[in-house]
Amino acid sequence: MAKEKILVTGGAGYIGSHTVVALVEAGYAPVIVDNFSNSEESVLDGIASILGQSAPCHRIDCNDAAALRDVFAQEQDIAGVIHFAAYKAVGESVEQPLKYYQNNVGSLVTLLQVMEEYKVYNLVFSSSCTVYGIPEQLPVTEQTPVQKANSPYGNTKKICEEILEDLSKTDSSIKSIALRYFNPIGAHPSAKIGELPLGVPSNLVPFITQTAAGIRQQLTIFGDDYDTADGTNVRDYVHVVDLAKAHVTAVARMLQGKVADIEFFNVGTGRGNTVLEAVQAFEKATGVKLNYKIGPRRAGDVPKIYADVTKATEVLGFETTSTLEEAMKSAWDWQLSLQKKAKQEA
Ligand code: NAD
Ligand code: WQD
Repeated sequence: MAKEKILVTGGAGYIGSHTVVALVEAGYAPVIVDNFSNSEESVLDGIASILGQSAPCHRIDCNDAAALRDVFAQEQDIAGVIHFAAYKAVGESVEQPLKYYQNNVGSLVTLLQVMEEYKVYNLVFSSSCTVYGIPEQLPVTEQTPVQKANSPYGNTKKICEEILEDLSKTDSSIKSIALRYFNPIGAHPSAKIGELPLGVPSNLVPFITQTAAGIRQQLTIFGDDYDTADGTNVRDYVHVVDLAKAHVTAVARMLQGKVADIEFFNVGTGRGNTVLEAVQAFEKATGVKLNYKIGPRRAGDVPKIYADVTKATEVLGFETTSTLEEAMKSAWDWQLSLQKKAKQEA
């Protein structure tokens, strides 16, 4: 039997590339669509080296309806789509909101229109725990109220969820699963793919690994006066390989026809860790001492959030297979492999 073809928009990105690997390992045939606005072609080599086979890739922009149509026409029998393609820098979205609404909301609308034209009815969408804002109760379940977003980026995720919900109330045949990721970290155990932040990272883990590697001088921990165990923010750090597998089971559920209209799932570990605990986990896992200082709070930070993952566990069979230390070790191995590559190229 032919393998089911899954279109993966943003498949050359951080979470997308790990998901492409997981899809192939689970017996699917992923087809990547990416405009490489936030990724590099070398990611495709990493994927090919892990799998021993390359993944087909169309270099197009998801806002380009004609180009998307060509892909659907060429590939013909696409069974479902995972839509990762989006911009994700929270700070930049505050500076350039239209860029974010255009790319994140615009690309979803275009994609849905083309899916309808080509009668492709299964969509897994990348959402985010950012839709919960500052939650009143922890851990957050899928029933926890969605709040007004505190950045244009966050708002694009909220609007995209609303678009999918609105569509599910029509006679459209499109079904969707929105996965609300908590904080994805780490890299593939081969260290052949991982996160590739452009410029100075704003996320914690790439900043930690770049500091440990001497690329950044010092990590600033944004505030230690929150109402948490050690005063630093609490987050739910989920290994990207575990997160990737959640997409595979979400796709399987869709293809089995089990999704009536739209479903939402939290994907985290169910554990909250402080920033200081994350730093300690990094130091313990790698044996590298990190140069850090406590600085002022960062505007817009949620003091404390972590997931209740009961629904994903029960319905998707989601599992957390690695500890925070293991995830940190994989992020470090990836950083070291980047350094090695940079040296070889110099
Ligand atoms: P990423 O930037 O590494 O990957 C996104 C990929 O999409 C990149 O390869 C980029 O080149 C591509 N892309 C962007 N716009 C495109 C367009 N218009 N057409 C074609 N390709 C386009 O990001 P990621 O961390 O892998 O995130 C994937 C998705 O998950 C995004 O939707 C993001 O908002 C969401 N998400 C990420 C996090 C996180 O912390 N990484 C958390 C929650 C949700
Ligand atoms: C984690 C913790 C910081 C950097 C963001 C988006 C969210 C989602 C995931 C996509 C926080 C602290 C960080 C540093 C620090 N993305 N920190 N020093 O803010 O939880 O979430 O990425 O949907 O929408 O907002 O992730 O990695 O930036 O921060 O102390 O240099 O690390 O204050 O507590 P965040 P992060």
